[in-house]
Amino acid sequence: MTFTEEINRRRTFAIIAHPDAGKTTLTEKLLLFGGAIQTAGAVKSNKIKKATTSDFMEIEKQRGISVSTSVMAFDYKQYKVNILDTPGHEDFAEDTYRTLSAVDSVIMVIDCVKGVEPQTRKLLEVCRMRNTPVIVFINKLDREGQNPFDLLDEIEKELKIKVRPMTFPIGIGKSFKGVYDLTKSSLNLFQGDSKTTVEETLTITDINDKQINKRIGEDFAAQLRTDVDLINGVYDQLDVKKYLEGQISPVFFGSAVNNFGIAELLDCFVEIAPAPKARDTEEGTTIQPDDKKFSGFVFKIHANLDPKHRDRIAFLRICSGTFERNKYYYNVREKKQLRFSNPTAFMAQQKSVIDEAFPGDVIGLYDAGNFKIGDSLTEGADIRFKGIPSFSPELFRYVTNLDPMKTKQLQKGLEQLTDEGVAQLFTKKIDGRKVIGTVGALQFEVIQHRLKAEYNASASFDQINLYKALWISSNDRKKLEAFMQDRNAHIAYDKDQRPVFLAESPWLLQMAQEKFPDIKFHVKSEF
Ligand code: G4P
Repeated sequence: MTFTEEINRRRTFAIIAHPDAGKTTLTEKLLLFGGAIQTAGAVKSNKIKKATTSDFMEIEKQRGISVSTSVMAFDYKQYKVNILDTPGHEDFAEDTYRTLSAVDSVIMVIDCVKGVEPQTRKLLEVCRMRNTPVIVFINKLDREGQNPFDLLDEIEKELKIKVRPMTFPIGIGKSFKGVYDLTKSSLNLFQGDSKTTVEETLTITDINDKQINKRIGEDFAAQLRTDVDLINGVYDQLDVKKYLEGQISPVFFGSAVNNFGIAELLDCFVEIAPAPKARDTEEGTTIQPDDKKFSGFVFKIHANLDPKHRDRIAFLRICSGTFERNKYYYNVREKKQLRFSNPTAFMAQQKSVIDEAFPGDVIGLYDAGNFKIGDSLTEGADIRFKGIPSFSPELFRYVTNLDPMKTKQLQKGLEQLTDEGVAQLFTKKIDGRKVIGTVGALQFEVIQHRLKAEYNASASFDQINLYKALWISSNDRKKLEAFMQDRNAHIAYDKDQRPVFLAESPWLLQMAQEKFPDIKFHVKSEF
């Protein structure tokens, strides 16, 4: 296979959903289709249920699952499909955002009973920011859900994206008969609640075919004909170009747990979803996937679960060229040549050492502390990829060292955990106090537990009155300095020594903005 063929056959994507919509189940069914796993139940849900937030064994277990499901690759037809897992728990939103920077498209799962949910909305906003192409899968048709037309309207209205149904359900819940494939004009009949049944497909050339009446009954057949008429009248044919620009989403209906409607989804996905795309750099250049020189970026770091081994796994998305084992590559931030003797690829549940990998692939690199999230690795080019920002945290605590003998360990632990993206660390300008910021309350518990377990350090997290930490900049250096002087007590530095304004309330933020119109306040570290 040529290098270009290798690139073009890759489909790197993530499944996004509000917790419980069926992301894990769909992932598993896709892996079954790809022959990557043989039995159902092999992919564990990585949900951290609210009730178990204090159960540290549970946290460790979930971390274990989350390593093994970070990337799941499989071959399907002539394609290589790479699924990147996004953490299910809403506290881990930031990690999810970063994972979305490493994919070329997404499949969004919506529960037909619940419709559009808060997390769906947030995730789609991120996709829209980047014009990521989205395919929608409406799940759980075996449940008494909402009217399918209402669901389509809700998606268009709430998520502000145009849709085009590719299949359409016949009946719902107890009366669910199957889906009609609007492009192939075939009828896929639902066999009931057996989790192993294969759907029966009835190919027809004419929607008025009397066979339909026989199979689903007069009433459902009449309803189907009305629905299909309506769809063809209301919705434009799918324009693949618009889908690739993130402007329109094809929609499929099915039931993941019953393995129903998945084949249609997967077949359409591999055909229309984008192959690895070009990527922009901070330096203003664009890196094409078929550039011969290797480049990639780290979007996730996972600490070793065994506290005796300090090494970590950095997940690297390849953007261009071919990655080769044992070759020296350049860590741009550290200006350091690194060599990897056991880079890992993830085929479904299996990890294996690979000799080479191509654009679109995600590999795991064992790392003794050389990487930070967002780092780029190249054959020497001084580039940084755009789109891997840190987000302004929402919850803050002061870190107090409880064991002065372990100051170094605490420092190291905090640095490494924040490198992993678990939280953000700020150092106050005025007194050097450390402030830790997260997007969810669970992270504080995770950090405290891991500091003790992995670094033997003890810290308490104390209340701090803080509304937001915002990165600041100005075109006028002097004005920025004047602002930092004026608000001395409310300035901190992030890990990369960039200045941040600590606003205690929305009102104080507004005051600062009004008094200093030349200062820009940013909710993302990338601006
Ligand atoms: P998530 O990763 O998006 O959080 O969702 P997950 O796949 O874990 O699915 C959440 C629940 O919804 C699971 O039930 C799963 O079996 C169920 N489910 C998924 N697809 C369908 C479907 O098409 N129809 C119906 N009726 N249910 C579906 P659970 O009780 O939480 O877990 P389990 O005991 O079944 O594993």
